[in-house]
Amino acid sequence: MNRLFLTGILAFAIVSLHSQDHERITKYIPSSKPDRIILNIAGDPATSMAVTWRTDTTITESVAQVTVNLPTVFLADSALTVSGYWQDVTGDGVTGRFHSVIFSGLKPSTGYAYRVGSGAEASEWFTFRTAAAGTAPLTFLYFGDSQLGSKSLYARVIRQAYRQTPDARLMIFAGDLVDGGSGSTLHDDEWGDWHAAAGFTVSEVPVMPTPGNHEYYDPAVRGKRDLNRYWRAGFTLPENGPEGVEETAYSVDYQGVRFIIVNSDEMVRNESLANAQAEWVEGLLRNNPCKWTVVVFHHPVYSTSARRDNKVIRESLKPLFDRYGVDLVLTGHDHTYARGMIVPDSADMKVKTAGTVYVVSVSGSKQYKQDAKQWWQVGMTNTQLWQAVTVDGDRLSYRAYDATGRVADQFTITRMKDGRKKFAVQPPKE
Ligand SMILES: [Fe+2]
Ligand SMILES: [Fe+2]
Repeated sequence: MNRLFLTGILAFAIVSLHSQDHERITKYIPSSKPDRIILNIAGDPATSMAVTWRTDTTITESVAQVTVNLPTVFLADSALTVSGYWQDVTGDGVTGRFHSVIFSGLKPSTGYAYRVGSGAEASEWFTFRTAAAGTAPLTFLYFGDSQLGSKSLYARVIRQAYRQTPDARLMIFAGDLVDGGSGSTLHDDEWGDWHAAAGFTVSEVPVMPTPGNHEYYDPAVRGKRDLNRYWRAGFTLPENGPEGVEETAYSVDYQGVRFIIVNSDEMVRNESLANAQAEWVEGLLRNNPCKWTVVVFHHPVYSTSARRDNKVIRESLKPLFDRYGVDLVLTGHDHTYARGMIVPDSADMKVKTAGTVYVVSVSGSKQYKQDAKQWWQVGMTNTQLWQAVTVDGDRLSYRAYDATGRVADQFTITRMKDGRKKFAVQPPKE
């Protein structure tokens, strides 16, 4: 009886495991219709824009059309057809064809309409706006780890962010967009969930992501590390970083803000890529034409957990941030919220000079405790967040919002005439 009972339990477990696997594999089967349509910055944001999308393998050309966004319904008449390339990704027995096209020669500060695919398989027309050619006010969004609960709980976060910040021109993701899926088990379903949550928002606002440790995580073989194969196929990112971290470490200058996206996973685990990236970051900071600098990577410089210290990151990057006065460092990984302004070691604490502001954030449902020695001025747990940052002339205004759209933390950094920076937790009254 006992044996019969155990056999029954085992059979049930196998059947339910198989049905879970089956659901994972069949959840987002590609078709001839484009899906997962996502914009990226791949070059000069004032004159170019990249788009990536997925189909099945019956589609044998990678074409998209772009035109200045006009009120007419005859957009196709003025559209330019641009060809790109595709890359197939086979995982879990399903092949997705990821197409990539770069629109170039665009006019700065201009609204464009585009669609991907052709004929009956073309997408709807989406719109985007190119960056101004020089310095101009900029608002961008920032999200910590979405990772788990993309479909169930993170969806409301990105939608609230889009609803509340319709003028945001970039969306920054600080790694662990998905939970697992390198190696043999790709978890296409997690990318499907991530796109289902974002919907058309990422087809209209370009995304600047950095990978986290989970973009290198193989659920089947522990310790095996490969960049998730959907990363390079599913995004079209600048290839201006060091060799070995293409499309995962890159820089973009957008309207007077220098964004430096670092692959921190390849810093904590690979000494030569840590050195190469630190040297590259220093070059970008030393010769920086932009007034403001934002650095983005996954592993925090200061952790919120006593057991998750990232010494390599702190030792190789923090001195550079101090030396060159980096304004903002946006990270994830610790699944809590923490924000602290940390003055350089040599600075006089009595002078209200702003050091670098370090942020750890989380947008998804996975939440941890905070038990590290407190370095932050504002901390939160069990709270999904998103951030909007506006840079306008001499002022950077930062707001962290919770999932309901309530301001949970805010500060400003002001550049004064003497070159020093002033940090204020409440924005000065106008
Ligand atoms: Fe994470
Ligand atoms: Fe992580």
